[in-house]
Amino acid sequence: MGYGLDVLLRVDGVVFNYGSTNVLQDVCLDALPGEILGILGPNGSGKTTMLRCINKILTPKQGTIAIDGVDIEKMDRIELSRKIGYVPQNSVQDICAPTVYEVVLMGRRPHIAWEVSDKDRDIAWKAMEEMGVKHLSSKRFDHLSSGQTQRVLMARAIAQEVKVLLLDEPTSNLDVRYQIDVMKTIQSLVRGKNIGACSVMHDLDLAMRFCDKAVLLSEGRVLAAGRTEDVLNPDNIKKVYGVDSVIDNIYGRERILIM
Ligand SMILES: Nc1ncnc2c1ncn2[C@@H]1O[C@H](COP(=O)(O)OP(=O)(O)OP(=O)(O)O)[C@@H](O)[C@H]1O
Ligand SMILES: [Mg+2]
Repeated sequence: MGYGLDVLLRVDGVVFNYGSTNVLQDVCLDALPGEILGILGPNGSGKTTMLRCINKILTPKQGTIAIDGVDIEKMDRIELSRKIGYVPQNSVQDICAPTVYEVVLMGRRPHIAWEVSDKDRDIAWKAMEEMGVKHLSSKRFDHLSSGQTQRVLMARAIAQEVKVLLLDEPTSNLDVRYQIDVMKTIQSLVRGKNIGACSVMHDLDLAMRFCDKAVLLSEGRVLAAGRTEDVLNPDNIKKVYGVDSVIDNIYGRERILIM
């Protein structure tokens, strides 16, 4: 398969096993500039494993992963972290930086040549502003609530100025206001900077609203992929999650109601 010029991230035929357990089977996906790609599927279907393969934490048994047309196998950690920002699921607080500001500034590390510049500091402040955590800048990182931690780590990924954001359940710890705020910020960032985002989502209605495309995983295989409104139909939702759903146009957009 040739690399389409517009494809920022291409995952092609990825197979991954934990020991003798097949976790990912022939997974293919493309992330395009200016779009949020939703990675959807039930607990244990392989979503986090997929993101870890893309971020080179895990190595697939087969298949290729390319960023901007370059195989990640050929990139070292620094090169990769200039291209990919990763916000993990249930982010562990093992970061050795005392304050929120310093954690966000760490996002600049792949770009810093000798010492932190005013530009790096400005970018870090702007990212904190975008994620609504500026008021927490001098607070200790290990004293934050889960939702605050998640937003600080999002700010760090934004400060990293990458081509592709990998987000593992970015809204899982957030209250209703921040679920919408954070998704809107990701959307405007992706569109404004023409970067790509792959976001694992469990809230199908939020995915319907914010993801331009979606990949629906079932037991490590892609069951459906394409425009989110085509992927998330009641048949696919029933097949993968085993629940009935209704899709209805309420206040001008398609909404998913799980029955
Ligand atoms: N370190 C590991 N060793 C062995 N098996 C693992 C390991 N990590 C995950 N698995 C298994 O791999 C499968 C996929 O896990 P993964 O974490 O990718 O699922 P997920 O889709 O992200 O689920 P969730 O929605 O619960 O976050 C699961 O069956 C899980 O038990
Ligand atoms: Mg997961």
